[in-house]
Amino acid sequence: MTTILAIESSCDDTSAAVLCNDRLLSNTIASQKVHEQYGGVVPELASRAHQQNIIPVVDAAIANAGIARSAIDAIGFTRGPGLLGSLMVGVSFAKALAIALDRPLVEVNHLQAHVLSHFIRETDNSPVPQFPMLCLLVSGGHTQILLLRSHFDMEVLGQTIDDAAGEAIDKAAKIMDLGYPGGPIIDRLSQEGNPDAYRFATPHIEGYDYSFSGLKTSFLYFLRDRLAEQPDFIEHHKADLCASIQSTIVNFLLSKLERAAKATGVRTVAIAGGVSANSCLRSRLEAMGQRHHWQVFLPKKQFCTDNAAMVGIAAYFKFLRGETADLSLPPYTRS
Ligand code: KG4
Ligand code: ZN
Repeated sequence: MTTILAIESSCDDTSAAVLCNDRLLSNTIASQKVHEQYGGVVPELASRAHQQNIIPVVDAAIANAGIARSAIDAIGFTRGPGLLGSLMVGVSFAKALAIALDRPLVEVNHLQAHVLSHFIRETDNSPVPQFPMLCLLVSGGHTQILLLRSHFDMEVLGQTIDDAAGEAIDKAAKIMDLGYPGGPIIDRLSQEGNPDAYRFATPHIEGYDYSFSGLKTSFLYFLRDRLAEQPDFIEHHKADLCASIQSTIVNFLLSKLERAAKATGVRTVAIAGGVSANSCLRSRLEAMGQRHHWQVFLPKKQFCTDNAAMVGIAAYFKFLRGETADLSLPPYTRS
């Protein structure tokens, strides 16, 4: 039996989790509200908030798991990619704890952790995917179609050549002045809207790659023209605008995933990352999966956005392979 304490601090959520093998015992998250008023994550404020949150969050994770500190066998931490100042808090804390408890460290890649979130078991018989598996990783910073042959054999079949899907959604929300982070707001407003109200073209990109920067520009020009005629256009058509832009992004994401599944013949298909919380993406993937007889895996909402449970499961699989980390490792900011 292996008990892992995991720490995630790559962006604006401070999180700690405890796992016993692949079973999740606790997952504590402190989200940073401070960034809302700035319409985006302010790195300096994020590091400061991590510094304030990290000890109470780790204490709560250990207490909620009902374990003694001495029961921890290894400490997993997100080494990157992410914001340097934010990562430094979690990395330094993990190192200090490893020294204090005399336990090994396991470094985790944040993107691998998002994908491996599907292997977290909350009960003994939670279903987990079989390999080979396709995973569409859609977060605030990344958009990739991955082919997994095992936990750590992840081949990137395609990825965005500019903005990430989450970034595109957040920018659309910003253009409409809806608030931050835009993803959940657009998701909520879309419930009342018609996804076919407006058409926005997506670019033709080779293979399984994506591009989202043009979409943002065409959305901006579209709104500029409408606003010139009707200054309260956004206010009156908010739900339709949200539903249409969301639908465009989701269809673009899924069209490439569908092609990748057809070409590879892989029938286990998953999504991961913050944008995988999106209700339109979830329901359309589920419908697509039924049509093609895929086994579809949608992460639970709490495992879509940043959390330490996913870091813990990745650390557990690495620990089993004997992959412990050196105390001198610095964080990295890019993948
Ligand atoms: O994975 P994540 O928490 O952080 C990164 O590693 O980037 O992803 C954050 C992204 C943001 O762009 C946010 O707007 C988006 O996930 N997001 C959503 C939803 N919830 C979060 N996008 C669409 N619909 C949602 N319900
Ligand atoms: Zn993330």
